Amino acid sequence: MQFTIAIDGPAAAGKGTISKAVAAHYGFAHLDTGLLYRAVGAKTLAGIDVLEAAITLTAEDLTASDLRTPEVAQAASKVAVLADVRAALVDFQIAFARRSGGAVLDGRDIGTVICPRAEAKLFVTASAEVRAARRYLELSQNGHDVTREAVLEDVKARDARDMNRAEAPLKPAEDAVLIDTSDLGIEAAIAAAVAAIDARKG
Ligand code: DC
Repeated sequence: MQFTIAIDGPAAAGKGTISKAVAAHYGFAHLDTGLLYRAVGAKTLAGIDVLEAAITLTAEDLTASDLRTPEVAQAASKVAVLADVRAALVDFQIAFARRSGGAVLDGRDIGTVICPRAEAKLFVTASAEVRAARRYLELSQNGHDVTREAVLEDVKARDARDMNRAEAPLKPAEDAVLIDTSDLGIEAAIAAAVAAIDARKG
């Protein structure tokens, strides 16, 4: 059985939480594609050439412990504008999407570029202020020394770069179901996602 669920949206909208829950609900495999760009970004911060980093990326690189920092997030968003970097990561994502047993992929361009024929597509969003507040909580709880203002600026800078780039910009696929999590708790957001996917499963 092949069934691909594409979940796109901006930073800290709740994609990760929803994707994990949806994958567990249906028993599907899950790929957080942001990790691919974060791993490439982290390597460039360590001085490795960006294309070299993308071409030689291994599954092990995705388990590095420091991929969730704000610095790596910005580096990821910067390497993600490069067409050659994106091209180097396409095959892995498509193969993952078509594995048997079903797959959930979350990112920015899954429903538009990587899996335009995904059986179900969601676009998960929330206001920049709500997303920044969530990210601030998460980072400060994990011991990062950040301010609310800096996190909001980071979120806005990444949104602008991700949405305005020429290659695979962040935008909802025409046939994506929109879920705005600004005023939704986690359980309600997951329920909305499952309901939208069930409607596509028939
Ligand atoms: O989802 P995330 O915050 O981990 O993503 C980090 C960056 O990677 C994001 O700012 C843009 C880039 N990205 C992308 O361009 N395409 C994807 N499918 C996933 C992430």
